[in-house]
Amino acid sequence: QHSESQEYWVFGYGSLIWKPPIAWEKRVPGYIKGYVRRFWQASTLFNIRVQTLYSYSDQTINTTISIFDYFPTVRFHQQHSVDHRGTRENPGRVVTLVSHSEWKLLNDYHEHSEDDVTWGVAYKIPSHCAKEVKDYLDRRESGYTIKLLDVYQKGKTQPVIKQAVCYIATTRNSDYCGPAPIEKITHQIFHSRGASGPNIEYALNLAKSLKTIAPDAFDHHLYDLERQLLELGASHSKSSSNQLLT
Ligand code: BEZ
Repeated sequence: QHSESQEYWVFGYGSLIWKPPIAWEKRVPGYIKGYVRRFWQASTLFNIRVQTLYSYSDQTINTTISIFDYFPTVRFHQQHSVDHRGTRENPGRVVTLVSHSEWKLLNDYHEHSEDDVTWGVAYKIPSHCAKEVKDYLDRRESGYTIKLLDVYQKGKTQPVIKQAVCYIATTRNSDYCGPAPIEKITHQIFHSRGASGPNIEYALNLAKSLKTIAPDAFDHHLYDLERQLLELGASHSKSSSNQLLT
């Protein structure tokens, strides 16, 4: 693990690409090896399950409440995933990284070869704000596991950054939702919205910012999703303007 007062690098493959940490000194596009980026992490508001055990007449009553019912102002301290793009009832989907060895055992709907890489952005965090940024990111990415990964750039065989900090939601976390046909993911994202805004905004931001920072990068899963979301959006706006006309 990195020490809190030393400079370090963070590698972002999701919202960090367009929503940087609070302080950084340098920003470098690059890629990591051995993982696939997938919209396989459910995005919800943080509901806590409070087991209120009233024991009268041998009965147990369980109630599920939203933490906001109790603490309406804690939104930015109690958040469960970085970007809230859904609710418990109507969860959205955000990206996580799945190791290639795990991915091979799953039935995915997109191809991936061992040579495919995942592009993102590395941020250099200077030593004088290392602790502050680490605290901020640990809170922002709470629930995610930290992995230290080497970052590469095109045309160079050696990593340009060694052991960048990367936040990953493992396949064992309770919000992992796994593979689904891209049409299903498209509809889920199109219809979900959370405290941070519409889920579609997250997905389109990711695709657009990735194209800007790494025009050579290709991510079948992400770009297929982007195309389907845009098509669905276009057909919705056409049908709603037809409704207005009739
Ligand atoms: C990322 O951009 O790398 C990221 C953002 C939120 C949670 C985990 C990772």
